[in-house]
Amino acid sequence: MSAETIALIVAAGKGERIGGDTPKQFLPLAGLSLVDHSRRALAAHPGIDRVVTVVAAGNESFVEGETAIGGATRRESVLNGLEAIGEARRVLVHDAARPIVPAAVIDRLLLALDSAKGAVPTLPVADTIARKGDALGDTVDRSALVRVQTPQAFDYAAILAAHRAWPIDEEATDDAQILRRAGHDVAIVDGDPLLDKITYPGDIALAEARLGAMMRVRTATGYDVHRLVAGERLWLGGVLIPHDKGLSGHSDADVALHAITDAVLGTIAAGDIGQHFPPSDPRWKGAESGQFLEHAASLVAAKGGTIDFVDLTIICEAPKIGPYRDTIRDRVATLLRVSREQISVKATTTERLGFTGRGEGIAAQAVVTIRI
Ligand code: CTP
Ligand code: MG
Repeated sequence: MSAETIALIVAAGKGERIGGDTPKQFLPLAGLSLVDHSRRALAAHPGIDRVVTVVAAGNESFVEGETAIGGATRRESVLNGLEAIGEARRVLVHDAARPIVPAAVIDRLLLALDSAKGAVPTLPVADTIARKGDALGDTVDRSALVRVQTPQAFDYAAILAAHRAWPIDEEATDDAQILRRAGHDVAIVDGDPLLDKITYPGDIALAEARLGAMMRVRTATGYDVHRLVAGERLWLGGVLIPHDKGLSGHSDADVALHAITDAVLGTIAAGDIGQHFPPSDPRWKGAESGQFLEHAASLVAAKGGTIDFVDLTIICEAPKIGPYRDTIRDRVATLLRVSREQISVKATTTERLGFTGRGEGIAAQAVVTIRI
């Protein structure tokens, strides 16, 4: 028997209740689609070996990773996904519409699965629950009710058999009821409000606020120096500046972009620019430094980080940076895919002291703040 634990994310719905043209699972939340949020959270859990996302035919390229094709209802989508998996020991079935998946809930589910064929996360019902017709009807005793969330964890063979046995003309809104119909007990573990489903307009904003509150701020610095020589062009902050000297180095020697690149790498402890683009590598001879910065930014994005702010200081006696300040801000903003307001460019002399004061070189330092 396979030892694998597979997470199955269903993302083949139309998202009719939330409205709009894009199915809700593909809507962006802090720069990443809902479905990819869940996929990354599940894939990152040490107890999960593989993640398969079920999408409507034609939508395969909208999600990261492995996919299977969904059906007309959630139940059919789950069944298709279970069949596509082929072999596994345990499976977690999750709604793409629940983008935030706390690892602690997965821990509890996998533990509960040691002594049951199925386990689900639930939360108590806090509001008064009542029946309604045209007017308000009787109150329902909420102490006997729970809210059932996903991911739901199952013994793979048991849930597959239960799904296959379910009548095709009957609907089911989750998989625990399908397992119970097959005669198995379903264990209950504590759910989490962070798992709330995105169903109606407004739910996205709440999820965004919750995600924002979970993110941490990180700050890192970068510093670089290049020699000023005659006969070189002067690139500063991705902008060609007319001057009687230019910076020398293996690449275009853009000292300002190098300082920012090092700071960006620093926010994710990804080493320094020399490690990623060694001066010994002929590929980087005369290279435009913008690509170094774009690469560093892509590493931050791949880790789920967002660049918030860059503060750059260029240290030189000449040229004057002021006239180019906004052009540099715009260029750096373009490279980092942020707005001009998120880029600060300052300059200072060193009162004719030291190598910068004597015009022998230009130094730059940068502070970059990200959220991750
Ligand atoms: N789902 C699916 N295949 C379907 C229907 C639903 O994979 N045929 C998925 C949805 O993409 C969602 C999850 O099942 O991740 C829960 O369903 P729900 O919240 O009802 O999503 P939708 O059906 O897309 O939304 P609505 O009911 O508002 O149309
Ligand atoms: Mg639905």
